[in-house]
Amino acid sequence: MRALVAGGVGEPIDVLRLESRPVPAAAAGQALIRVTAAPVHASDLHVVRGRYGFTPEFPAVGGHMECVGRIEALGPDVGGWQVGQRVVVVAVPAVPGPPAVGTWQDYLVADAHRLVPVPDRLDDGRACQLAVNPLTALLLVTRELRAQPGEWLMQTAAGSTVGRLVIQLAGHLGVRTIDVVRRRAAVEEITALGGDAVICTEDEDVVRRVTEIAGPAGVRKAVDCVAGQVGAQVSRALAPGGELVVYGALSTHRQTDPAALTIPLLARSVIYETKAVRGFWLNRWFGTTSPTDALRALSEVRHLVADDVLSIPPGRPFPLERFAEALAFAEAPAHGAKPLLVLDDDRDGGDA
Ligand SMILES: NC(=O)c1ccc[n+]([C@@H]2O[C@H](COP(=O)([O-])OP(=O)(O)OC[C@H]3O[C@@H](n4cnc5c(N)ncnc54)[C@H](OP(=O)(O)O)[C@@H]3O)[C@@H](O)[C@H]2O)c1
Repeated sequence: MRALVAGGVGEPIDVLRLESRPVPAAAAGQALIRVTAAPVHASDLHVVRGRYGFTPEFPAVGGHMECVGRIEALGPDVGGWQVGQRVVVVAVPAVPGPPAVGTWQDYLVADAHRLVPVPDRLDDGRACQLAVNPLTALLLVTRELRAQPGEWLMQTAAGSTVGRLVIQLAGHLGVRTIDVVRRRAAVEEITALGGDAVICTEDEDVVRRVTEIAGPAGVRKAVDCVAGQVGAQVSRALAPGGELVVYGALSTHRQTDPAALTIPLLARSVIYETKAVRGFWLNRWFGTTSPTDALRALSEVRHLVADDVLSIPPGRPFPLERFAEALAFAEAPAHGAKPLLVLDDDRDGGDA
């Protein structure tokens, strides 16, 4: 079978190579999965660059978040699953927890508790993104910030996959969003998606616009995946007692610029207005939540997607052997779609 393997830490295009490896066997409690599609998330590339929150042992098969495929075989002691069933594999390594499993390969073995049944109507292009971003959106809105109907929730990079899912979920829950984007061209699209107010950092001042939009009561809840000066502006725009959850650092997408990786907070604002800034990382959530709770949250996500409350963008498929094109696409400015590695010709998802 084919596996896309990083020989060591480095630029993905330099260190990732297609290798031939034996098909693994499922042990007790595991399933052998024939992978059909896997996304290329920014975090997958951070892992290869050695700049993520965990480092696998190299050489390592790439893709550490999620994929979709079919159950090829079941190991001993696995109940409730059937050979041939289509499943999402939640490969996100729990931190602290066991080592990572790479998804960019034809077959992988996964613990049965990491499998989620795929809603029938969901094509592979969307199904392979079912877990990470929809779950992050759900946890940020409903658990980290407990956003309530009628409340304002502010977010950055609103056009990202997570951002779009936050808008949809907020709309479903009656939460109003202030959506920050970096390009004026994105404003119309975010409004059409249901964003209640959009701020464009290209030509607008975030703090002033938040005051205009939310009035004297201001905004008490925000999520940020841009960090740097944009994250700082969001923290300044928060009302007294407000909370900001930081979950990404897109200001420096290769995480190489120390200034952009820093969020300069005004101490006076943090102290006298008692604002809180904290992080969220799905891997740590998996490492600290119970398996039952994780399954409950994943099941909630699955239902929200199956019921069309959350609509996952289709992504842009690339055959595995054209991984170099997928990597270049992932790095292109304003590329607009998530690159997906497709490992099978009878796929039924995504745009060509
Ligand atoms: N902490 C966690 O557990 C966790 C979980 C999931 C995701 N994340 C993080 O969440 C972020 C979004 O992930 P995703 O998969 O949803 O992203 P995505 O679909 O690949 O979209 C990336 C988006 O970011 C915007 N963007 C890129 N650089 C930017 C900058 N410097 N300033 C403002 N906007 C910028 C792009 O805007 P344009 O359209 O203008 O190009 C695009 O809309 C990533 O940082 C990811 O690592 C974290």
